[in-house]
Amino acid sequence: MSQYQIHVQPDNRTIEGKEGQTILDIASRNGVKIKVGCKGGGCGICKIKVLEGEVERGISSRSVLSLEEIEQGYALSCKAEPKSDIVITYEKK
Ligand code: FES
Repeated sequence: MSQYQIHVQPDNRTIEGKEGQTILDIASRNGVKIKVGCKGGGCGICKIKVLEGEVERGISSRSVLSLEEIEQGYALSCKAEPKSDIVITYEKK
């Protein structure tokens, strides 16, 4: 099973996660406090921006994550899984 490194801004920390874990899961296991709501891709509260690397975004409502936002790199951390080492940024609580 692949391991991926996730560099988190603005914390300036690098955390590690396994294939199949969501970015939200990996973050919360490592004390990175991304805002969380429904955990099901329906509210958009957990939105992050992927600055580098590949993620699988999973299924979510277009009303909370538009195609334009996807093109800009945004993803829902409760659904998205890393597919390479990545760099992300999020809005602090
Ligand atoms: S927590 Fe609601 S979309 Fe991720």
